[in-house]
Amino acid sequence: MTPLPNTALYAQRRARLASQLGEGGIAIVPTAKESARNRDSDFLYRHDSYFYYLTGFTEPGACLVLAADGTSTLFCQPKDLEREIWDGYRLGPEAAIAALGVDAAHSSATLESQLPRLLENRSRVWFPFATHEGLAARVEGWLGKVRARVRFGALCPAEQGDLCTLLDEMRLVKDAYEQDVMRRAAAISAQAHIRAMQCSARMLRAGEDVREYHLDAELLHEFRRQGSQAVAYNSIVAAGANACVLHYRADAAPVRAGELVLIDAGCELDGYASDITRTFPADGRFTGPQRALYDLVLASQEAAVAATRAGARFNDPHDATVAVLSQGLLDLGLLDGNKVGTVQDVIEKRAYFQFYMHRTGHWLGMDVHDCGSYVEPTEIGQTSQRRDPLSGEAITNRPSRILHPGMVLTIEPGLYVRPAPGVPEAFHHIGIRIEDDAIVTDGGCELITRGVPVRADEIEALMRG
Ligand code: GLY
Ligand code: MN
Ligand code: MN
Repeated sequence: MTPLPNTALYAQRRARLASQLGEGGIAIVPTAKESARNRDSDFLYRHDSYFYYLTGFTEPGACLVLAADGTSTLFCQPKDLEREIWDGYRLGPEAAIAALGVDAAHSSATLESQLPRLLENRSRVWFPFATHEGLAARVEGWLGKVRARVRFGALCPAEQGDLCTLLDEMRLVKDAYEQDVMRRAAAISAQAHIRAMQCSARMLRAGEDVREYHLDAELLHEFRRQGSQAVAYNSIVAAGANACVLHYRADAAPVRAGELVLIDAGCELDGYASDITRTFPADGRFTGPQRALYDLVLASQEAAVAATRAGARFNDPHDATVAVLSQGLLDLGLLDGNKVGTVQDVIEKRAYFQFYMHRTGHWLGMDVHDCGSYVEPTEIGQTSQRRDPLSGEAITNRPSRILHPGMVLTIEPGLYVRPAPGVPEAFHHIGIRIEDDAIVTDGGCELITRGVPVRADEIEALMRG
């Protein structure tokens, strides 16, 4: 196990954030609410990522208040023997001070009465905008109570700031502890993918009726067996033509020999996501057309990996992918050069979009689609206008983000072939995506998900075993 960080790590993050709040600033960071599923059943509780980043605390019903001088106040569920008998252990405010290294801690039952006092005589209140339903209205209510006291000499904050703008930048570059957890999460997910691949081949060899949910069960088994708390997102297990549905879920469709299976699944470990996609032949042997498309997607991923390094732009891997896929689509006859022109035309007119309609990656961290601007902050004003060749929509371009060591992103090209006039039948209904997670380094990137093979012959060998 990666050792849990001591409270100093979170204290350092709070201090870094406090130093950016400006004189007289104060920040409010609630954790996530519990959410009912149906009648008496709740969804599995998941803390808020911003709150966890600053506290390492996973209980519901908590809120952190951080002042610009670095003073931290935690509101958390009070000790309550009866509730603890039903729902489990609560840390409680008394123990929270030492356990979490905060300066003060109070029962969350006192939040409404104490918050206005904490906001009094501050110039600016920071909170995450548009992430916690109802929070803006609650802040307004607290400010209203401060305003009611101005007659007695209290000053009311005149400014509000979006705390996400500060925290998103901090979270974008992962520290050594975070990278360590992410490597472990990635390793578990890789083993889960291997397990699902081998299960598919084994069951088909035995003549059994294989369903998507059988493979989903293998993934979950491996995630939980190795201590992951949950899936990082709903697993996609898509057999055959289902792979062409981008947001398909693991369902009950039969997994048939001769068809491909696309699995996009990753575990969450200690608050951090992993995100892997592998596409493999259900029985362990690629057909010719499957292999041709697979090798093309893999070549495009290799180009994207080569373009991922500190100093490059976030868009560079996508552009590298598109160049390789566009040429390959012409070479394999999925696009007709007589109709669409040269590879440059395919790229400029976005003709590849028929088969590749998503981006090549996203930030990865505590959230699977992690926070952080995709625009380079130092160049935000350098805009240019263009018209999308497919939709005609006017688009404002801004320079994409420059990559730095410690940023983590996915690299996930794909091809999804739906029947259409002129598309060779041999490729119909094939959907392929290959997704790995990369930590940006000075000279390139570290692929942390390669515990599961990616080359077609390696996958075939694995599935024979
Ligand atoms: N699994 C979500 C994604 O790949 O973006
Ligand atoms: Mn992804
Ligand atoms: Mn994914």
